[in-house]
Amino acid sequence: MSHNVLVLGSFVADVAFRMSRLPAWGETLMGETFALGPGGKGSNQAVAAARALAGSDAKVLFLSRVGEDAFGTLARDTWKEAGVDASLVSTCSTATGAAAILIDAVKGENAIIVVPGACFTLEPADVESAAAEIGAASVFLTQLELPLDTVERGLQIARKAGVPTILNPAPAPATPLPASLIGLADYLIPNETEAALLTGLPVETVEQAGLAAAALLAAGARNVILTLGARGALVATGDGQTTLVASFNAGPVLETTGAGDAFCGGFATALAEGQPLLDAVRFGCATAGISVTRAGTAPSMPHRHEIEGLLAR
Ligand code: RIB
Ligand code: NA
Repeated sequence: MSHNVLVLGSFVADVAFRMSRLPAWGETLMGETFALGPGGKGSNQAVAAARALAGSDAKVLFLSRVGEDAFGTLARDTWKEAGVDASLVSTCSTATGAAAILIDAVKGENAIIVVPGACFTLEPADVESAAAEIGAASVFLTQLELPLDTVERGLQIARKAGVPTILNPAPAPATPLPASLIGLADYLIPNETEAALLTGLPVETVEQAGLAAAALLAAGARNVILTLGARGALVATGDGQTTLVASFNAGPVLETTGAGDAFCGGFATALAEGQPLLDAVRFGCATAGISVTRAGTAPSMPHRHEIEGLLAR
């Protein structure tokens, strides 16, 4: 029996700059380092899931679109190296998008601008074309870096086929998410910012996170996993249970960009393998814990043996 994970989502090239502080408007600032690498929440999560699955007969299928350009080639090389099945990725004349990632090397904070480009031309009809593959998956995973109606169609197809759905509502929506979308999530995985935006509630303390998670359950999500950075992840299930799963310290934190993607990819893999919910959340936390000790987003995703090593510690 295979445990395929199908990820519907974005690919963009990440252009990351580390500097001592943000420049002011009109100012040119000398930075510390620069890196160009593969990014985009969907692709990052697919790479995380594939590396976490490595060694089994399962696979990760990615459903997306890239341009016919150098960033599109970067995408395809990345998936090949990670073992992501890209047979559902189409090519179009729109340029592949990019994200400018500004990392404050002193505060460890980051600010990101994403222009999704080619992947944003994916329409509901493109997702319908992959209905058979979605229906055959063990888990369906998506985010909000594609047009909302495209994301919604993917969730609908998976739900109708009885495939467990994971929605990572990132980046945080500027307008309220349609209730129909939240209602299609078997596992809704927001971070603190996203949970606050989705509910209108403050999400600073663990107690507040519990209240926000309850509100999201009431809004229709079947389970909510609210990621809390170094504090771990709060799991609230439909039967009223709430559990705080601790994070893992895998070494000094270098770069937290993509940590949410690491969590989602690792969690999806564990869920597809049939691990119980809290074990799958622990697996996701371990995946994220390693990713933050390394530079980059997709390149920082750990391999299976590394995740298992941390879990066994
Ligand atoms: O979640 C991190 C990702 O968000 C980055 O790779 C960047 O591409 C942005 O889309
Ligand atoms: Na990282």
